Amino acid sequence: LITNVSLRRVLDSRGNPTVEADVLTESGGFGRAAAPSGASTGEYEAIELPPSEAIAAAREHALPRLVGEVYAGNQREVDAALRAADGTENFSEIGANSAVAVSMAAAKAGADVLGAPLYQHLGGTFRGESFPTPLGNVVGGGEHAKEATHIQEFLAAPVGAPSVSEAVFANAAVHARISELLDDRGVPAAKGDEGAWAPPISDAEAFEIVDEAVDDVSDDLGFEIGFGLDMAAAELYDADEDGYVYGDEVKSTAEQVEYVAEMVDEYDLVYVEDPLDEDDYEGFADLTERVGEQTLVCGDDLFVTNVERLQAGIDADAANSILIKPNQIGTLSDAFDAIELATENGYETVISHRSGETEDTTIAHLAVATDAGFIKTGTVQGERTAKLNELIRIADDAV
Ligand code: PGA
Ligand code: ZN
Repeated sequence: LITNVSLRRVLDSRGNPTVEADVLTESGGFGRAAAPSGASTGEYEAIELPPSEAIAAAREHALPRLVGEVYAGNQREVDAALRAADGTENFSEIGANSAVAVSMAAAKAGADVLGAPLYQHLGGTFRGESFPTPLGNVVGGGEHAKEATHIQEFLAAPVGAPSVSEAVFANAAVHARISELLDDRGVPAAKGDEGAWAPPISDAEAFEIVDEAVDDVSDDLGFEIGFGLDMAAAELYDADEDGYVYGDEVKSTAEQVEYVAEMVDEYDLVYVEDPLDEDDYEGFADLTERVGEQTLVCGDDLFVTNVERLQAGIDADAANSILIKPNQIGTLSDAFDAIELATENGYETVISHRSGETEDTTIAHLAVATDAGFIKTGTVQGERTAKLNELIRIADDAV
């Protein structure tokens, strides 16, 4: 039984405050988790409140329904209590940041009571030898860095790596190789929020450099490394222009579909996230029809980890994979529902961090527990390596 929940403001990786929750149980179980935070957030995401407001509201409304009332190990009940305390569709009352922190902290407390690693408590006892392939952000711009590429993320994808450890180090090697290639070209590069290089180059140049880097590292290591994109196209789309804005150039929806399809062909992309605006199920479906056999077309802002939006996408054949971000929807139970619906319909799942992160490692466990094909959680920097190193530990049975 949950006997105490404490909430506090802690720093995230951008230096902003975020919500951290501690959950204590009667039998001495303890769990701690913190909410991440997006910069290119989808319009249909659950609501993140200013942390002090979210904390005050959760103390007032959620704690009375949790403390002395619910078992930490009963995730469905914990999350139902959070939903009932909030009373809205989108957690606008207690904040999705409070909700997700408590939901994840309760899961960890439940695991602690059992003396089990979190991924086992979340359902991963029967996991096989497979592991999620890490998608590593190596070059980026958009909302994550100024004066860099229009495309938000170029993601290394070590699809041929024999182990999670080799995959993680492959992405780091691609990141390092890109730094050399930028140096060779005399391009100075800052880093974006997720630790990817944020050079002042065109998207076309970024394609070339990332392609060269993944080929070099692939040759070195002897297994296949491809790459993919998060275009975060909702941020590029301008309704007034009725198109996607790349600096001085505007692409119509048809041109955007054509452009992405060409890049998929030319660079053998393994993954394309949010290639179109978050309202454009039809554009997504056109692209998926063209390239869905060759590559993963993934909805992030399109689906926002929401089963209703995912079902609409399934009905429209809009994509073939979904990004899962627990804080987009507010609880682990909701995230599980989205994963289940996706899996039943043959959609690949990609468990994801946010651009604002903490040292929290819950998503590494979630990816293993649900047998996700991929995890997107950066390449370097402590708040990213926290998850990657946890994956290495899980594979080593050392958690
Ligand atoms: P965000 O970006 O966390 O800033 O929303 C990540 C993504 O778009 O996948
Ligand atoms: Zn995205």
